[in-house]
Amino acid sequence: MKKIMLSLIVLLSSPTLFAQTLKVSSPDGKIVLSVNDDKNPNYAINFIGESIIKPSRLGLAFKNTIAFSDGFTISAHQEKSANEIWQLPWGERKDVTDHHHELLVTFATNNNNGAKTFNVRFRLFNDGVGFRYEVPKQNGLDQVEIINEFTEFTLNNPKKSTAWWIPARGWNRYEYIYNTTDVASVDRAHTPFTFKLDSNTHISIHEAALVDYAAMTLNQKRPGVLKADLTPWSDGILVKTKTDFKSPWRTIQISKDAVGLLNSDLILNLNEPNKLGDVSWVEPAKYVGIWWGMHINANTWGSGEKHGATTSETMRYIDFAAEHGFAGVLVEGWNVGWDGDWFFNGDVFNFSKAYDDFDIAAVSAYGKKKGVRLIGHHETSGNVTNYRNQMSDAYALYEKHGVRQVKTGYVADGGDIKRIDEKGIIRKEWHDSQFMVSEYLHSVTEAAKHKISINTHEPIKDTGLRRTYPNWISREGARGQEFNAWGTPPNPPEHTTILPFTRMLAGPMDFTPGIFDMSFNGLGDKSNRPQTTLAKQLALYVVLYSPIQMAADLPKNYQANLAAFQFIKDVPTNWQESKAIAGEVGDYVVFARQERGGDDWFVGALTDEKARTLTLKLDFLDKNKRYQAQIYRDGKNAEWINNPYEMIIENKQVTANDELVLPLATSGGAAIRFKAL
Ligand code: NOJ
Ligand code: CA
Repeated sequence: MKKIMLSLIVLLSSPTLFAQTLKVSSPDGKIVLSVNDDKNPNYAINFIGESIIKPSRLGLAFKNTIAFSDGFTISAHQEKSANEIWQLPWGERKDVTDHHHELLVTFATNNNNGAKTFNVRFRLFNDGVGFRYEVPKQNGLDQVEIINEFTEFTLNNPKKSTAWWIPARGWNRYEYIYNTTDVASVDRAHTPFTFKLDSNTHISIHEAALVDYAAMTLNQKRPGVLKADLTPWSDGILVKTKTDFKSPWRTIQISKDAVGLLNSDLILNLNEPNKLGDVSWVEPAKYVGIWWGMHINANTWGSGEKHGATTSETMRYIDFAAEHGFAGVLVEGWNVGWDGDWFFNGDVFNFSKAYDDFDIAAVSAYGKKKGVRLIGHHETSGNVTNYRNQMSDAYALYEKHGVRQVKTGYVADGGDIKRIDEKGIIRKEWHDSQFMVSEYLHSVTEAAKHKISINTHEPIKDTGLRRTYPNWISREGARGQEFNAWGTPPNPPEHTTILPFTRMLAGPMDFTPGIFDMSFNGLGDKSNRPQTTLAKQLALYVVLYSPIQMAADLPKNYQANLAAFQFIKDVPTNWQESKAIAGEVGDYVVFARQERGGDDWFVGALTDEKARTLTLKLDFLDKNKRYQAQIYRDGKNAEWINNPYEMIIENKQVTANDELVLPLATSGGAAIRFKAL
């Protein structure tokens, strides 16, 4: 590991009467941040001479002491920088470069009425900025209740900037179709919140290392003023903590074009290193599962004739997984509690008791013989107390049966997570409240004790915690494939051209690609089907990164098209390197990724409702190698509505000097394996 730490210029003074300005720039000098204490603590950001964030407020307000705001001036600062390379045990790339300049600013007040000082730590990378509050122990501030965070992101020209965003504090959590509007038309949005300026500079506001704190959403006040809006507890308090404490990093990724956002490691760089030690038991892999059948009503989660999770059906899936090289079989609906309307069964789920027609010992022993692991499933329907009470036994049971991965579910409306407090009173919380932030992480650290990785559905948004807890292997947190089975409307063609620039900036997503049968309701039914071509379903495996990827369709649909299925069998889920090559938010995107521990490269390209032809330069390939390009692309007459299946599979010998021309159909795609020869 290369590590250079340069320190320190320390400047100490007492709170002054005159406004001070401090500046720090990114290592390449293109991003310049200034901090000022005129009236109240504030900051501003410039990028290659353009104002990105106009002077914007910083600070916090508390229930029981004065606010960190007016009257607080800069009393000291320190600078340092770092340039190091660290490794991800699994990820989009193996080596991650953390090169940044840091400015730690101390604000203080002469007011004698309570708390007196706080720090803001700024880090500037070539791909953006992170800053967080650090509040030391002090008189007047021990137990802390935060009632407001003043952080603002004040933008120029909100009417001339375009944003891609989903609403915050809604009943459907993060599962909304993206809005594309001018920034001035945004009300309250989740992060990552991505927008582009008139100059084409692309920016995404998010947060990193969200631990023991409420999630930050953005609420537009006056046009262009996006204010941090923390999701409250049921009693209205935003954050309950104790000094000393640190807020999550508020992050601003900045790039001269859309693609630059996709190649940023800023969120991971602002997280703490791995706290779990040896994580060789965390297994990136592909899986199949008893899942889609329930979503298209061919099966039920609950007991009865159509019960999906039976011993014999699971063995059939294990056979299929073994034959085609999949590591795991997810089984949903195996445990008692699903009967009736399971959305409201949070009180009755039992996480250790199987239905009579599911023999967990028999299926896991059968899987072991075949080299396939059972993948666990815990749906809580949002009753987290019921889950917590059973968690340790439930993970122990799975561990005993060789399970290495559990998918969890928190289906409940936003604001409707049920917990029973210390006094036995039922409280309803938000999925992105501080309470739930801690609850989700608790399940991850508990699971780690059993060498189990967690794939959270209806999760808290990702903020890069996989670096610290590598067993937090994936999560949902956006509209996934399931919406194509029953969503009204299903995901539109542009959905997966927006996700990479928004949701995916946060981290891996368990989107569950690979639906081959678009016409489970008949092709004529445009309302519930994937609005894509078949080639686009393949491209999703490369475009939407996750270390675990499902082949989501029913085995019989893969058996009917083994030629196309070959790509899903070949595509890895763990990468040595990843490069976003081209793309515009909401239009199209192209990724190239190199297999971890191998020489092969893979490309995924996909488009929105518009057909387009891409010319792909192969200069990412090793200059000294020849490759067989195994190309899966839309056929000549393919288009997503009436002809989604027409696909050409062809092989070509290529080198790094070549180019490939890829015609993409409407809502089409291309998936390529470059097999090193
Ligand atoms: C919602 C999840 O996203 C989905 O994958 C799962 O099948 C259901 N909940 C049931 O747990
Ligand atoms: Ca879901």
